[in-house]
Amino acid sequence: MFDEVTLEALAERIGEEYFALRQRAEVDHRLRVKGRGRSRFHLENIRALYALLDRLLRLTGLREAGRRNALAVQVRERVVRLSRLPRSLDGLRILQISDLHLDGQPGIGANAAAALRGQRFDVCVITGDFRWRVSGDFRQIEGDMRALMPALACPLGVYGILGNHDVLEMAPFLQRLGVRMLLNEAVELAFGGGGLWLVGLDDPHYYGLHDFRRGLARVPPGAACLLLVHSPEVIAEASRHQFLMYLTGHTHAGQICLPNGRPLLVNARCARKYAAYAWQHGAMAGYTSAGIGASGVFARFFCPPEAMIHELRAGPAAE
Ligand SMILES: [Fe+2]
Repeated sequence: MFDEVTLEALAERIGEEYFALRQRAEVDHRLRVKGRGRSRFHLENIRALYALLDRLLRLTGLREAGRRNALAVQVRERVVRLSRLPRSLDGLRILQISDLHLDGQPGIGANAAAALRGQRFDVCVITGDFRWRVSGDFRQIEGDMRALMPALACPLGVYGILGNHDVLEMAPFLQRLGVRMLLNEAVELAFGGGGLWLVGLDDPHYYGLHDFRRGLARVPPGAACLLLVHSPEVIAEASRHQFLMYLTGHTHAGQICLPNGRPLLVNARCARKYAAYAWQHGAMAGYTSAGIGASGVFARFFCPPEAMIHELRAGPAAE
């Protein structure tokens, strides 16, 4: 399934209808038609606001501190207890990175790779937003991706989904670099004598082309299953399915926060409790990553960039 890397092969793999829908949505987006997704208000389009923020940071002398903060990647670990986790998957370690925005600043890929050196994990998932720009070329991220990929090497491989900054054409490009892209698709990973399904959906934020039915089509009912989707905006829909966990990003956990960690703005239509870090929705555990990169302005305050290793443990959900 993952060997085909041309755009034509991708169209065949995901179906002409969905392929055409995604391409049309990208054209609409390029033409600055408002998004089809959950949000009709896109901060990414408001360049003037970011220019103002950048100017403000320069004037207050905070620009350089913000830049340094945005490069101080923290590698964190957490134990996730899941009552429905099959015993065979106990101990599985998932590295989640998100919102790389690699062309936001030179050297982001190598910087993240250095932070990850020596870490041990079984599988890596990248929950969307590989680039800074929202349209135009994307090949400028190739050098940073090549610098990052060796640090993501692990027994079960690297999987990715598209974010609202990413276009369909990037999927074959990323697969050639070693990221197995899931476009409303699922893959089964073999671990400890059991199986874990990863379901990766398209972006719900701009494009609104996330499709649970397609994503779950190959997954047997009752199978252990994790969801990868770029934003925490489809939690209610996800909780109606069998997902043990919902791994997401998009919000950057605020990126610019108050000293108590409270975000000034979160560009997502969801309750604040879902916009950053660990959360629970009924029986489904979730994690909204702060991300590796930054967008709008390359600066972070009270919200460090992160790579998270989730270690799954079978047992009652008491973290
Ligand atoms: Fe992002």
